Amino acid sequence: MYLLIPAAGMGRRMGSEFAARRLRQRNKLLLKLLEKPLLAWTLLAAEQSQTIRWIGIMGQPMDFPDFKDILNQSNLTKPVELIAGGDTRQESVYNGLQALPDAAERVLIHDGARCLVTPKLFDRCSNALNDCQSFIAAVPVKDTIKVVDSRRIITDTPERSNLWAAQTPQGFDVALLKKCHAQGKNLGWQVTDDAALLEKCDIPVKIVEGEETNLKVTTPVDLAIAEFILRQRINS
Ligand code: CTP
Ligand code: MG
Repeated sequence: MYLLIPAAGMGRRMGSEFAARRLRQRNKLLLKLLEKPLLAWTLLAAEQSQTIRWIGIMGQPMDFPDFKDILNQSNLTKPVELIAGGDTRQESVYNGLQALPDAAERVLIHDGARCLVTPKLFDRCSNALNDCQSFIAAVPVKDTIKVVDSRRIITDTPERSNLWAAQTPQGFDVALLKKCHAQGKNLGWQVTDDAALLEKCDIPVKIVEGEETNLKVTTPVDLAIAEFILRQRINS
């Protein structure tokens, strides 16, 4: 299985954490969790997966020296390629798809910021592509979700049992995903995950059960929670 890791973000919502650590605003994937950069944890899970054979990381070229240091310290046995990302996650994935080796028929996309992903989840997701052409990992929503208008008045309360929170990995047939990305680019669609492009093309996307701990490190609170979970894993 081929894996693409979007890692070209600027971590804007992590802002205050950078201030606290006296760093200039930059990629949150370089922040440390238990002595290791966030991205190193994501790569470690990919390395330990039994199905992933090739890893592409989309990053901002200014971060490449740091990414190379992480790779040197991670001692990965799998081939890794650094790919220039874009201004949005969507563009970064687009660039990653263009850089996939010709032999790649199926691909997993996994956010670098979901550094608590487990090798098991990667493998379950790889296997899911034996039965379908497109899926996302997701978990049932725990909160009651409100739809709100611009005046912050509630307009709807969707039935909770129909709601799932999207995670990554998201997995696709490569030709299909490339087609939907090209369509999105041509028509100017802006989406926050790859599944949304397929939905807009009326292509069914399956749900695969994700993991509750597979959170996306987005704000400083997430960093603290991730550190807590990692410490528990190491101690057990
Ligand atoms: N990402 C990317 N290219 C971009 C923007 C985001 O590859 N131009 C990646 C991020 O590095 C991250 C994943 O997409 O691994 C999910 O994005 P998000 O959590 O939003 O990260 P950031 O964009 O860095 O954070 P923020 O939105 O708070 O700035
Ligand atoms: Mg973002």
